[in-house]
Amino acid sequence: MSTPNAILQIDGQTIELPTMQGSLGPDVIDTRTLGGQGYFTYDPGFLSTASCSSNITYIDGDEGLLYHRGYPIEQLAEQSDFLETAYLLWHGELPNGDQKRDFDNMVSHHSMLHDQMLSLFKGFRRDAHPMAVMVSIIGAMAAFYPESADVDDPHQREISMFRLLAKVPTVAAWSYKYNKGEPFIYPQNHMSYAENFLHMLHANPCETYTPNPVLARALDRIFILHADHEQNASTSTVRMAGSSYANPFACIAAGTACLWGPLHGGANESALAMLAEIGDVSRIGEFVDRAKDKTSGFRLMGFGHRVYKNMDPRAAIMRQTCHEVLDELGLHDDPLFKMALKLEQIALEDEYFIEKKLYPNVDFYSGIVLRALGIPTSMFTAIFALARTAGWIAQWNEMIVSPGHKIARPRQLYTGSQRREFAPVEQR
Ligand code: SDX
Repeated sequence: MSTPNAILQIDGQTIELPTMQGSLGPDVIDTRTLGGQGYFTYDPGFLSTASCSSNITYIDGDEGLLYHRGYPIEQLAEQSDFLETAYLLWHGELPNGDQKRDFDNMVSHHSMLHDQMLSLFKGFRRDAHPMAVMVSIIGAMAAFYPESADVDDPHQREISMFRLLAKVPTVAAWSYKYNKGEPFIYPQNHMSYAENFLHMLHANPCETYTPNPVLARALDRIFILHADHEQNASTSTVRMAGSSYANPFACIAAGTACLWGPLHGGANESALAMLAEIGDVSRIGEFVDRAKDKTSGFRLMGFGHRVYKNMDPRAAIMRQTCHEVLDELGLHDDPLFKMALKLEQIALEDEYFIEKKLYPNVDFYSGIVLRALGIPTSMFTAIFALARTAGWIAQWNEMIVSPGHKIARPRQLYTGSQRREFAPVEQR
């Protein structure tokens, strides 16, 4: 359905700009021709900018909706599994039985790393943050698969996407094992994706480790909740890197680096540290007041979102998963969880948070669940990156195959010096 043009009146001239309507969400004003008429749009942080069109994920921040290829996150979290969700993000449809079996089989049979990659881990200090290792090893994969640079080749794109989906959990688990000085545990092809990750994380050569199926299911659901989220900062980074035709391993390494930031994927680690710093329910008010004091520079980690001005639907599912995991482990009195529930209640009743529409986001409860699953805090963002790899590769592929795609090259509002002449040092 065509939508009326936007009329821009500026400097005595009238500029007509076409508008475009998506299948859901706001219409967009197509400003591509504005540059040729002497104007740029100005939107640092991209608060009002659609950087692309996409069929993959839809978010309604006011209603708190999140759809992957049209399927609500609540249904996927409850009824699907992570690899099926990854298939959906990638191919646009849920797989039938044969497709699911083949997809899962391809992933499990690509989960080993090239044996020479082991020596890359040994170049790090033992206390290297897992995200530093992941950024490096994922980027280094391009050296082992140089043919992946041919991004125009559908087969090369497909095998690279499988390699990334399959190997990132191994890289994540081994970065943790390296921190602990324990031997790397190899992936087990007979295990599910989440069981395999827990096994690589917690098993050791001296005893048998069988992942708890309830905990593995909870972790699989956490992977689903983190799989994709429209054009967030790290996904935009992947698209930006991919727009130059950089190889897929370089693009996913770039996205991993961006996700590491505490305002983005690093928030789950910071949220747990914040709960530990609060220490007791009696101090919650003090921290809420600090978060409201602009001069403090302190924010409630795990609260607020650029898009959600309602409850992040993933936070609600994560809170439920918290209950299930803590009950399974007999930790229903977990002090951090009780404090998180109290902090959420106090914040959501506070005028400041209500007025600024600050609700718990996906990172608020995830740290508590991951900690209960025996996953160390340093691995929280690595888990996020592991899961988001499914979304990153789907978004990267969508961009590469989109007709007439261009290298991303934003402009600027220049506020620097006017032309001036160079003066030799003796005249300065
Ligand atoms: C993720 O984009 C995505 O989709 C990301 C993500 C994904 O799946 O990819 O959902 C994952 O990154 C979730 C967000 C995790 N980050 C945090 O929990 C860190 C704490 N939250 C914030 O720093 C902040 O809310 C952001 C970064 C998430 C959003 O920042 P925006 O959209 O740029 O909003 P803002 O910083 O301009 O905040 C708006 C106002 C400000 O006050 P004013 O300047 O308008 O007076 O709200 C305040 C902020 O000071 N505010 C907070 C706050 N978050 C925002 N005040 C206290 N505590 C907070 N957490």
